[in-house]
Amino acid sequence: MTQVEEAAAFLKTRLPLLPKIAMVLGSGLGVFADALEEAMAVPYAEIPHWPQSTAVGHAGKLIVGRLGELNLICLSGRAHLYEGYSPQQAAFAVRVMGKLGVRSLVLTNAAGGINLAYGQGALVLISDHINLQGMNPLAGPNDDSLGPRFPDMSDAYCEQYRRAAKQVAAELHIPMAEGVYAALLGPNYETPAEIRYLRAIGADLVGMSTVPEVLAANHMGIKVLAVSCVTNMAAGILAQKISHEEVLETGVRVRDTLVRFLRAVLPRLEA
Ligand code: HPA
Repeated sequence: MTQVEEAAAFLKTRLPLLPKIAMVLGSGLGVFADALEEAMAVPYAEIPHWPQSTAVGHAGKLIVGRLGELNLICLSGRAHLYEGYSPQQAAFAVRVMGKLGVRSLVLTNAAGGINLAYGQGALVLISDHINLQGMNPLAGPNDDSLGPRFPDMSDAYCEQYRRAAKQVAAELHIPMAEGVYAALLGPNYETPAEIRYLRAIGADLVGMSTVPEVLAANHMGIKVLAVSCVTNMAAGILAQKISHEEVLETGVRVRDTLVRFLRAVLPRLEA
C-alpha cells in the first residue's frame, strides 16, 4: 500500500460516513467546521503519514459532519510548501480524499489583490492559476491508480461550479469577482517589482497555497471550486507594508460572509 492508501484505510475505520465533498479551510476559517452537525474530528497527528500544519491560524484536524442534508469533510489546516513540505505532502490530503471517494473539492485561501478593481476584504472566485512555485506534486513516477501521466488542466477550476457559485453569490447579494491566482513559494510577501510582473502576465491574485491541491485534485478527476479572500492589496499598491496580522484580521472580518456563501453553495455542487 502507498502512504496515501494507508491514510485512507485508517480513515475508513474511523469515520462514521464517507462524504463526496471535501473542503479545505484556509487561515482563520476553522470556525466553519464548528457549525457542522454530528461532527467528529480526527487530529492530523493521528492519521498515518499526514503532514502536520505549522502555520498560525491552522488547527490541524479533519472534521466530518453534516451541513443540513449534506455530508461533508472539512480539512482545517493545510500543508504549505513554504513550511518545507514537498509538493507531494502539500497534495497528500487531497489524494487521501480522492481515495475515500470525494468527487468535489472546495478550497479557500487568503490572497493578495493584484487587480486594482479588488479591495481589501473582497471575495474572488479563482478561474485559473499560474504555477510559479517551481514545484509540482505530479512530478516523479506517475501513480496510474491516481490519474494519467499528462493530465489536462483546461477546466482546473470547474466552470459548472463557478457558474453555480456566481448564481449563489448573486442571490445572497455578495459581490464576487473572478480572477487568476498566481502561486508563489513564499514565505515572504512579494516585492513591488514581482507584483508588477505578475500583473503583466495576467494574474489578479497572489498567494502561497492551493495550486498543489488543485493539480492533485484534477489529476484524480475531482472537481474544484476555489475562493480567495483578498486579505490585503499586493505589495507596492498601497503606501503601507503587508503584515501577517493584517492578513489574519481581514480574514476574520470577512469570515461570516464567506461562511454564509459556502453554506449556500455547497449543496449546489453536483459531482
Ligand atoms: N502575497 C502572497 N500571499 C498572500 C498575500 C500576499 O500579499 N496575502 C495573503 N496571502
